[in-house]
Amino acid sequence: MNSKSLFMPLISSALIWCGAVSAGEIDNYKKEAVETTQAFVKQLGGAMQEQMKAGGPEAAVKVCSELAPQISAEMSREKGWKVTRVGTRVRNPMLGIPDAWEQKVLARFQERAAKGETFDKMAHAEIVTEPGGKYFRFMKAIGVQPQCLACHGEKIDPDIKAMVDERYPHDNARGYKAGDLRGAVSIKRPL
Ligand code: HEC
Repeated sequence: MNSKSLFMPLISSALIWCGAVSAGEIDNYKKEAVETTQAFVKQLGGAMQEQMKAGGPEAAVKVCSELAPQISAEMSREKGWKVTRVGTRVRNPMLGIPDAWEQKVLARFQERAAKGETFDKMAHAEIVTEPGGKYFRFMKAIGVQPQCLACHGEKIDPDIKAMVDERYPHDNARGYKAGDLRGAVSIKRPL
């Protein structure tokens, strides 16, 4: 079936036209995607702050390296959607590399940021037809915050650097500055 979509900001009430999928359904998909993303980000952010306070970056590294993939796997299983994090540059190539659609949306996010939009509410929703079927796809931008720089910044403490180097020999996810686009939470829901 042919589908046509409009790009739109998250809060916009613009419609996506798409064959049998009604505008009301799309709004529901979007609402559920926003809720899922918020729960994900909140859980991660809370754990990150806790661990930073309790044990510094050595403890917090587990939040990004273990808890994040664990939460996203659990959410994916529970919902029957793919819930992932992708990066503009990637530390873990197994999990974090954006596919072609995600790369396109990340590039748009950069353009929107260059025009002055902030990352906190920046998102994109679209119905996409792929060879494997039709999907509702959604991405919510993740900006780099000061507390991310300990592990993704330009100057990384030698101990943390050694730890990251050991675990991630192909790491590209460093050299970021606060306010950069780090990546996105990405949801792919089969329709
Ligand atoms: C204590 C170290 C540490 C801190 C602090 C940290 N990260 Fe990470 N980050 C990592 C590690 C390690 C990975 C690799 C995760 C994996 O194995 O999938 C990662 C991966 C990611 C990814 C997935 C894409 C990729 O590169 O593999 C994103 C997105 C991300 N981090 C965002 C953030 C954001 C946003 C912050 C701040 C709120 C942050 N990180 C803070 C260590 C850290």
